[in-house]
Amino acid sequence: MQTLQVDLGERSYPIYIGAGLLSQVECIVPHLAGRQVAVVTNETVAPLYLDQLIRTLAGHELMSIVLPDGEAFKHWETLQKIFDGLLEARHDRRTTIIALGGGVVGDMAGFAAACYQRGVDFIQIPTTLLSQVDSSVGGKTGINHPLGKNMIGAFYQPKAVVIDTATLATLPERELSAGLAEVIKYGLICDESFLGWLESHMEALRALDPTSLTEAIARSCAAKAQVVGADERESGVRATLNLGHTFGHAIETHMGYGSWLHGEAVAAGTVMALEMSRRLGWLDEAGRNRGIRLLQRAGLPVVPPAEMTADDFLRHMAVDKKVLGGRLRLVLLKRLGEAVVTGDFPHEALLATLDTDYRTLMEQISH
Ligand code: NAD
Ligand code: GLY
Repeated sequence: MQTLQVDLGERSYPIYIGAGLLSQVECIVPHLAGRQVAVVTNETVAPLYLDQLIRTLAGHELMSIVLPDGEAFKHWETLQKIFDGLLEARHDRRTTIIALGGGVVGDMAGFAAACYQRGVDFIQIPTTLLSQVDSSVGGKTGINHPLGKNMIGAFYQPKAVVIDTATLATLPERELSAGLAEVIKYGLICDESFLGWLESHMEALRALDPTSLTEAIARSCAAKAQVVGADERESGVRATLNLGHTFGHAIETHMGYGSWLHGEAVAAGTVMALEMSRRLGWLDEAGRNRGIRLLQRAGLPVVPPAEMTADDFLRHMAVDKKVLGGRLRLVLLKRLGEAVVTGDFPHEALLATLDTDYRTLMEQISH
C-alpha cells in the first residue's frame, strides 16, 4: 500500500492506494467519527462492493443509501434522498458518510456531508479511475444545475481517501478511458516527464496492468495533492486542473448530462485547449499533436460534437466558474507541462478555435 498526504493544516488527510483496501479495517475505521456510518453508493456499485465494505465496518451502526446511477441524477432530488435516509435513521452529528462509487456519488455524498447538520465527517472510497485520480481528492463537492455543470456545491475535505485499485477490474472500458483523460491532464499541465511515461505505458494501463495503474494513480494523486495543498479554494494554481474543462463542461451541458462522459468531454475540450494554445503561438504543432495522439491512444474522443456551433460553446462557457467580472478565463498551455489560467487572449483566437474543423485536423495529423 502507498500512502500520500494532502497537506491542509488541521484538515490534512491521507490517501491510501493499493489492491484490496476495501477489506482493510485500518484504512477506514480509524477515520470514523463515531459508531454511526452511512454508506452512500449507487445501484451499479452496490451489488459489486457494498457487502465487502459492510464486512469491514462490522460492529458499527450502519446504513446504506443506494442512489440511481448516472450524471443525469446529480441533482437536488437525489441529494434529498441522502438527507431523507440520514434523518429517517436518526443519524446525528457524529455520523460519518462514506462515498462508495465514482465521481458522481463522491461529489453528491461529499456535498451532503458538507450540509447535513452543518457538516459531518466523510470518507471517499472512489471506484472509477477518474474518481481515484481526481474527484475524490481535494474537497470539491456538489451537484449540477440545468444551466451549468457543478454550479451548486461546497469545498469540503474528506477525512481520508481509500483507493482500492482492485475495483477497477469491473470498470467498463469506456469509463477507464474517461479516467485516463484526467491522468493525461496532469502530464499536460505540470509534468512533461509523466507524459513520456504515459506514452510508454498506455497499452499496459488499458490492459489494467496493476503496477502501471498504481503508478499512474499515485503520480496523479501526488500532483493533485500538491496543487490542492497550495491553493485549496482555487484562487490561483488550482484552476489549472481544469484544462479542457471549460470547453468540456459546455459539451456536457449542451449534449445533456450523461450523454458524453465527463472524461470524454474533457478529452475533446483538451484538444480545443491544445489547439488554442497553438494558435496563440505557445505550443507548436508537434506539441499539440503529441497531446492529441495520447488522448487518441487512451481511446478518447478528440473531436467535439458536430452539432455544436461556436455560439453554443460561447453560451455555455459564459456560465463557467472561471468567469470573473463577465470575463472568460481559460486554462491553456504555455508549453507541454506548463499551464496558465488567462483571460488575456484575443477573442478572435477563441472564435477560430471554436470554428476549427477538428475532423479534418485529425485526418491531417494521422497522415
Ligand atoms: P460516475 O460516477 O458516473 O461513474 C461512471 C460509471 O461507472 C457509473 O455508471 C458508475 O456506477 C460505474 N462504476 C463506478 N465504479 C465502478 C466499478 N468499480 N465497476 C463498474 N462500474 C463502476 O463517473 P466518474 O467518471 O467516476 O465521475 C464523473 C463525475 O465526477 C462528474 O460528475 C464530474 O463532474 C465529477 N468530477 C468531480 C471532480 C472533483 O474535483 N470533485 C473532478 C473531476 C470530476
Ligand atoms: N477537478 C478539478 C479540481 O479538483 O480542482
